Parts: sequence; structure tokens; C-alpha cells
Amino acid sequence: SGPDTYTPTGAVTATPRDAVAQQGERLTTAQGLPLRDTDHSLKAGRRGPVLLQDHHLREKITHFDHERIPERVVHARGAAAHGTFVANGEAAAYTRAAFLKPGAVTETFVRFSTVLGSRGSADTVRDTRGFATKFYTSEGVYDLVGNNIPVFFIQDAIKFPDIIHAGKPHPDREIPQAQSAHDTFWDFVSLHTEAQHHTMWNMSDRALPRSYRMMQGFGIHTFRLINEEGVTTLVKFHWRPRLGTHGLTWEEAQLIAGKDPDFHRRDLADAIEAGAFPEWDFGIQVFPDTEDQLFHGIDLLDPTKIVPEELAPVKVVGTMTLDRNPSNYFAETEQVAFHPGHLVPGIDVTSDPLLQGRLFSYLDTQITRLGGPNFAQLPINRPHAEINDMLRDGMHQTAVHSGVAPYHPNSLDGGCPFPAMVTGGAERGATHDDGAFVDVPQHLAEDVVTREQPASFDDHFSQARLFYRSLTPVEQLHVKQAYAFELGKVYEQAITERQLRCLANIDAELCGFVAEQLGLPAPAPTEQVPDSEPSPALRMVTGDRWPV
Ligand code: HEM
Repeated sequence: SGPDTYTPTGAVTATPRDAVAQQGERLTTAQGLPLRDTDHSLKAGRRGPVLLQDHHLREKITHFDHERIPERVVHARGAAAHGTFVANGEAAAYTRAAFLKPGAVTETFVRFSTVLGSRGSADTVRDTRGFATKFYTSEGVYDLVGNNIPVFFIQDAIKFPDIIHAGKPHPDREIPQAQSAHDTFWDFVSLHTEAQHHTMWNMSDRALPRSYRMMQGFGIHTFRLINEEGVTTLVKFHWRPRLGTHGLTWEEAQLIAGKDPDFHRRDLADAIEAGAFPEWDFGIQVFPDTEDQLFHGIDLLDPTKIVPEELAPVKVVGTMTLDRNPSNYFAETEQVAFHPGHLVPGIDVTSDPLLQGRLFSYLDTQITRLGGPNFAQLPINRPHAEINDMLRDGMHQTAVHSGVAPYHPNSLDGGCPFPAMVTGGAERGATHDDGAFVDVPQHLAEDVVTREQPASFDDHFSQARLFYRSLTPVEQLHVKQAYAFELGKVYEQAITERQLRCLANIDAELCGFVAEQLGLPAPAPTEQVPDSEPSPALRMVTGDRWPV
């Protein structure tokens, strides 16, 4: 409509404009100035040149120039959905967390991702998948930032920049996007042999999920639960898809990557839109919180190890249903900020050195990615619980705080807001009567400062072997073919030979197959390799033995 049909909507004192819908009778500038024309620049004469005076042109283009924010340094490509978690109460004996009490219903937001590709990369590459869940609990946000593979490449967060530099595309040509088909990746995993177990999972069908709806999820680290009585338990978290765990074949994955790089995000969104809401059972493996944190000889602080379900069955403690697609990818899927340090009373971390480093990394990276320290105010990150944090100002502050005394304690803003601060007196076994988060005091096994790690972290091959030997013959064939294919892309023969030496320490038949495919001799193992597992019944977490 032209200026003569324009009717002003109100005086300056009217309620602020609602900028959310981006609809209305008239287009305006960001300042609310009605515009007549947004298709032509202001020029000196019909044939130009364009005038710097055109404030609308400058505002429109300047805003556009700054539309992109940095993609995540890892897990850049993702798809997400909203959902609901319902607890069955089975965890209540172990944790006082309100969202795990019988019948508790909690809103969730889940973001699935690949790890290494950039934002525009294909969905079906051979890679680990992220499975990050935000629980908007009544006691604050709880984030479970997990993956679809139950172990990790490294035992200590200080190596994270190294494994990611090795896994990301080569620094010279920025290829390949896929994780495993290149020298730097195999160089790293054959030198840091703790990575061999995760690598074995990456060579399996687990690294080619059929759908995000058909993936297991794992918290990987061991966490500590604290119950109403203050008794602590160690746990590992599991998500099990009700649709079962399914993979693509390598040929399917490659074809789909070309034909429909959005395969997984389309599948998730279409299923939810059609009302086929994906569901996961949430489970815990429970271990006693002993001084040595070993369970059947497995070091619970070593994130390259699983605990077989035969030794610690998974107890189902609730179910999550994803039933709503995001309506704005940027505002929700892109701006969501997960952090393993977002905890609630009743759930605490352990001293796993990988987890400890993560506790620093996520907040740090998000300050860069989301432009300052106030991203908890973004709608997707806002807790659904009361906030009284005394944080102030900073880049992108949108709250107009009204208190005059943002410090504690104070006698100006109604005094001390906390009924009783827990100050250092909390002991292991302390109760949490005031509903606050209490850090569980830890006994240090040694009183030395050291970069050394326990000897129990030194076994790098036995669980890779256990995983391989637990697979069916066709699954084993896929693993063998994957190693042969990916190692066949490596240029430096010394790297391939070093990786073959690792395989020799895992399983002779696997090593022999891959070596033959590559036209290389199969090396002899340097460690003792048993012909069969001590317990043939022992299988890895495959999810097929859960109680229904
Ligand atoms: C992002 C999982 C280890 C640093 C993510 C995401 C997941 C994840 C799922 C994507 C979250 C999203 O969708 O927004 C894991 C798991 C790990 C692990 C399961 C090991 C068990 C680490 C370590 C570090 C690290 C050791 C660093 C020391 C990051 C960073 C991001 C990220 C910087 C990007 C976060 C953002 O930009 O919001 N991780 N990660 N991760 N991870 Fe990890």
C-alpha cells in the first residue's frame, strides 16, 4: 500500500512492536520507520550512482552481512527436535533428581549431529553421531551431551584438539569431509592406540546409522548419582531406540550422500510431521561407588572402555518421545548450547579426565560461537526454572535487571536470597534438604600432582577385540571391508603398516583380511592375543538384551 493509505498504529508510548512474526501492513526498518520501497537503492538520477545516504540499503545489507555465526568447532552439522521425557521412577533409589522421580514429565530438546563435517556436509558419512539432550527440569537445565558410540577416541581432554585436527579435513586441501579416509586420521589413531576401540566402532555399521530415530545414545563417561540419603552410585547412561538400532550399508550411505545429503534431517522432520514420533528408553548401568572406581577390573574413569551388559544390565528409568519439529532452525538447532556441566541436584561428574576437560570447553567455545556470555537468555537455552544468578551486563544482554545489589550477601535487595548457603561443610553422605546442588567431596587416591595416568588405562586392544568378536559374521565382514576401503585411501604406507600392527594386536583374522586386500604382509602381534574371549557369552552394548 502507498503512503496515502497508511494508518499509523499508535503513539510512541504504545506497546513495543512484535518483531517475531515479521508480518504486517507495512514493511519497516529495524527502528520501526515505515518504508515505501525495499527493491531499489537511492540513486543520483535513474542511472546512478548509488548514494551512501540510503540508510535503508545500508541497514539491510549490513544486517545480512552479519547473518552467519561461526559454526560449531565440532558437530557443526545437526538436526533437532523437541520432546518429552517421562520417568518411571526406577532411578529414584539412586538419585534425588526431580526429573527422575516416578511419573515426572520433563520437556526436552535433542540435537543429533555428525562430528567432523562442516554445516553443509552430507548426513550419511562414516562418522560418530552426536546425541545431545537438554532436559528443562524444574531444578534447572540438565544436559546429557552424548554420542551414538559408547566409547571415545581419547582418555584425556588435552588430546581433543589433536584428534580433531587429525580427523578434520587436511589443512592444505580441506578434503575429505568424511572422517576416516585420510592419512592424518590413521596417523593419529595408530600412534595413540587408545583410539583403536572407538575406531573399530567407526568401521562398523554403527557409524552409518539408517536414521537418527534408530540410533542408540550413550553418556560414555561414568557419572555419579546422589540419592535423598546422600548415598552415591556410579552410572553410565544409555538411550535405546524403540525402533531398534539399524545401519545403512556402505554402498547405500555413499549413494544417499550424493542423492540426498539431507537424508537424516529430512527423515527426522518428516517422521515427526507425519506423527510417527520416535521414542527412546533411557537406562542406567549401576556400579558401586568404590574407592578404586574399578568394576570387574574395568576402570570406570576410562572413557575408551564399556562395561558389558552381562556384567551390569541396563535398568530402564524412563522414556523420551520426540514430537515437535523446530520452527526456526537458527533460533533452535543452531543457537542451542549444550554443556556437560549443566547438572541438577542428584547428578554429578566423576574425575574422568576427558569429562573434566569438557567441563571447561563447552562454555568457553559458546562464548565465541554465540557472541558473548549471555546466550543462556536465548529462548532455546532458557531454563524452565526460576533464575536468580546475579550475572550482569555483557555482550547481547537482553534482560533489563532491576535489582540494585547484584552481589551476595546484600542488605539492599531484600537481603540474602538463599535460605542457607552450604559453605564447605558438606561431607560425602550429606543430605540435600534445601534442594540445592551439593558438590560431592572426593577422596584423592594420591597426593601428588602428575600428568601420569593409571596403569588401568593402558590396555588399548582387548575391548576393540571384544567388540569385533561380538559381531555377527556379516557385521564383521562390513568392518573388514571398511578398514580395507579407508586404509586403501592412505598415501603414506608407513601409516597403513602401523595401523596393521594395531589390528594384529586385536584379531589375526581381521588383520589378515585387511592386509591381503591392501597387498601388504600381515604383521605379527606385539601383544598376546587370545584365540577366544574368556566368556563367549560376553557381548558389547548392542541393545538387543534390554528388558522390554
Ligand atoms: C560439541 C559430544 C568430547 C568439545 C559436542 C556435541 C556433542 C558432543 C554431542 C554437539 C552438541 C550439539 O549438538 O550442539 C561429545 C562426547 C565426548 C566429547 C560424547 C566424549 C565423550 C569432547 C571433548 C571436548 C569437546 C574432550 C574438548 C575438550 C566440544 C566442543 C563442542 C562440542 C567445543 C562444540 C560446542 C558448541 O559449539 O556448542 N560434543 N564431545 N568435546 N564438543 Fe564434545
